Amino acid sequence: MAKKIAFFNHKGGVSKTTNVFHFGWMLAEQGYKVLLVDADPQCNLTGLILSSGSFDRFEQHYLDRPDCNLKSALSPVFDGALSPLTAAPNLEIESRDGLYLLPGHLALSEYEITLTLAHELSGSVHALKNVPGAAAHLLDITADAVGADYVLIDLNPSLSSINQNLFLSSDGFIIPNSPDYFSQMAIHSLARVLPMWSSWLDRAVGHPALQDASYTLSARKPKFLGTVVQNFRLRGGDPTKGFQDQINRLFRVIDETLMPALSQSELAFSLERYSEVLGERSSGFCLGLVPDFNSLVTTSHIGSTPVFALSDEQIGSVGSVLSQNREKRGDFHDIYEKAVRQVVELLG
Ligand SMILES: Nc1ncnc2c1ncn2[C@@H]1O[C@H](COP(=O)(O)OP(=O)(O)OP(=O)(O)O)[C@@H](O)[C@H]1O
Ligand SMILES: [Mg+2]
Repeated sequence: MAKKIAFFNHKGGVSKTTNVFHFGWMLAEQGYKVLLVDADPQCNLTGLILSSGSFDRFEQHYLDRPDCNLKSALSPVFDGALSPLTAAPNLEIESRDGLYLLPGHLALSEYEITLTLAHELSGSVHALKNVPGAAAHLLDITADAVGADYVLIDLNPSLSSINQNLFLSSDGFIIPNSPDYFSQMAIHSLARVLPMWSSWLDRAVGHPALQDASYTLSARKPKFLGTVVQNFRLRGGDPTKGFQDQINRLFRVIDETLMPALSQSELAFSLERYSEVLGERSSGFCLGLVPDFNSLVTTSHIGSTPVFALSDEQIGSVGSVLSQNREKRGDFHDIYEKAVRQVVELLG
């Protein structure tokens, strides 16, 4: 069965979507089949992949294929139809073999209330018993239908029930971060919230109404795969001093506050396992430090291509500027290649 990986941080703009796309593409480049799932009503991942710089193509998708998105695929359960869930129609990403997209939907948040009620484990659960396990089942059968090895889930920046549900349905999770004070605050907050979600799962799997649901919840807990720190400036190949200070502070909060909380809640592997894969002295459980893409970010958006996979034609520059950009492209390729190798190893 495919391994599901959630990219989650309730802080906005920390590169969740960017990382889902870059990790997914890199996994596909290494020969894996990968299903990307846009579970954020903002639909940035869908826009990034479908638009290629033109919003019209994004809009056209919903006119041409109204059934091809996460919300429509969940509707048999969430809209109370009696039909069973079936594998979601998804899109093969033409420019990258082995990469598929289950698009998002701007109205996915309409399901938030139903899911919240179903999560309350109250009297309403009987009527809504198939709701909590529906998304995990849908992603599993959709991944099976495309023969996916990995499912990468892009979550929205909030502590919504949709995020809680998909987070807990995953095998592992990655926390993208920015090197700033607000990311440190977000990590403190995750150290409180994620254990609560883990306790909720314990209660839910033991709840009689959910045990006889058609789509049951798995008691297995997602494991922390690491962080990615993104979007800082370099000087002489290293983060500038200001950014390095912020990265150090962030890592300290992750090591001293987040990790103990995750370990206690069965949301982490053993420390030995991380040392084996990430290296003895790695702090912050960091899979990768990704500096500012600079001018390549716009080229990446326009070409719907990760920065490390841009062609010389897409980069478009000539002479020494092209050489510099090629070098940066190679550096980003190395960073993501290593990050993905570590994730594959951690998930075993
Ligand atoms: N390393 C980087 N260098 C430059 N720009 C970056 C880098 N990483 C991400 N960005 C840009 O930062 C913006 C925010 O990134 P992204 O959309 O991936 O964040 P997010 O966490 O998914 O946001 P949200 O919380 O709204 O879903 C995007 O415009 C993205 O292209
Ligand atoms: Mg996003």
